[in-house]
Amino acid sequence: MARLLITGGAGFIGSHTCVVLLEAGHNLLVLDNFSNSSPVALERLKSILNLNDRDSASRLQVFQGDVRDIDLLEKIFEKSELQSSPIEAVIHFAGLKAVEESVHDPLGYWDVNVSGSRTLLEVMDKHDCKTLVFSSSATLYGYPDIVPIPESAPINPINPYGASKAAVEMMLADVAGCLKDRGIKQASTTGWRIARLRYFNPVGAHPSGCIGEDPNGVPNNLFPYVSQVAIGRRGTLQVFGSDWPTSDGTGIRDYIHVMDLAEGHKCALDALVGSGPQLLTLNLGSGVGSSVLEVIRAFETASGREVPYKIVERRPGDAAITVADPTLAYKCLGWRTRRGLNEICRDGWAWQFANPNGYKGEVA
Ligand code: NAD
Ligand code: UD1
Repeated sequence: MARLLITGGAGFIGSHTCVVLLEAGHNLLVLDNFSNSSPVALERLKSILNLNDRDSASRLQVFQGDVRDIDLLEKIFEKSELQSSPIEAVIHFAGLKAVEESVHDPLGYWDVNVSGSRTLLEVMDKHDCKTLVFSSSATLYGYPDIVPIPESAPINPINPYGASKAAVEMMLADVAGCLKDRGIKQASTTGWRIARLRYFNPVGAHPSGCIGEDPNGVPNNLFPYVSQVAIGRRGTLQVFGSDWPTSDGTGIRDYIHVMDLAEGHKCALDALVGSGPQLLTLNLGSGVGSSVLEVIRAFETASGREVPYKIVERRPGDAAITVADPTLAYKCLGWRTRRGLNEICRDGWAWQFANPNGYKGEVA
């Protein structure tokens, strides 16, 4: 049982990871500016876990603020030390993640994603907190040459969002003292224990239907779009191309249930704490690819609703197939996905059905 700082803990992946970590007995401090999330998500955690007011005051403390705010970070670390319960590790989710937005606002992305991470690392270092799990992304691989994609594949970001993740990965290698960054598991010469987790396509929701993905505005990604069409918030799904070199002509991705992903974070944390200083670099994916049409069909079955769609032009910047080689995550963490596309659609639908407008309209 440890005290952990979770940046971006109110977000999609962060909130699900908080459930898993609280269930494992950890005490959490969540730092979030709610720029892309709602405090309601954190309230819902308490009901999923049956935390009463007294429990939740000690087990889940929430700080509203920015990860670039060094004074606030200092205060959070100092407060924990004064309570004789210093922060032992950080899981760093806070960041911006919309590819198209990053093309229009590259400096904003470098600021939040790169400067935010640098500020966090500076404060962690000062307080001798040297265990970090970082949200990286399969977007680093750009257009992959080899599928399934191993961690050793070239890093080739094709947009500012991907570049900002690649920059943080490099910064973390430097901080760990791994100056020739080519290994998957390398000894850190500086005492840092760092996991760089490259997520593939996180989707689905907690099976309770209480928390899930709640994008602002029109969803950019397939899964929330399909869910919103099924619930009647949007008319027709656009399928971006049916002439890809794939089995049915539509794009193939490695969709990972967000609860599997959340469990992957717990396993990574356990692996870091349980062994010496190191830099771990791991794909978190299922190793299984699904096409757009397969997702539509699985969602229709899970929801009992039709998902009308029309085929349109390819989306610029898309790859035909991205699927993880998840072998190393299993080898290093003993972790692999346990839920498939049917569970993803079942749980994603439970969330969408119970919350047709996401968290909007509800006050924490
Ligand atoms: P999300 O937007 O739901 O969560 C991010 C959280 O960080 C939000 O709660 C947001 O309010 C908060 N935040 C943003 N900027 C902040 C700041 N400056 N200070 C404090 N809090 C801030 O996104 P998510 O899907 O949960 O993603 C979490 C992390 O995983 C991100 O770093 C993202 O880049 C990465 N990632 C996500 C995906 C994906 O498809 N969801 C894939 C690969 C990697
Ligand atoms: C997106 C991000 C990528 C990130 C990944 C995982 C973009 C351009 N890329 O890519 O950086 O690493 O999520 O979070 O946003 N599709 C449709 N119709 C839609 C939406 C998507 O047909 O309305 C298709 C896409 O062409 C693709 C598949 O569905 O073939 C999945 O798309 P999406 O959910 O956006 O994920 P990625 O393309 O992997």
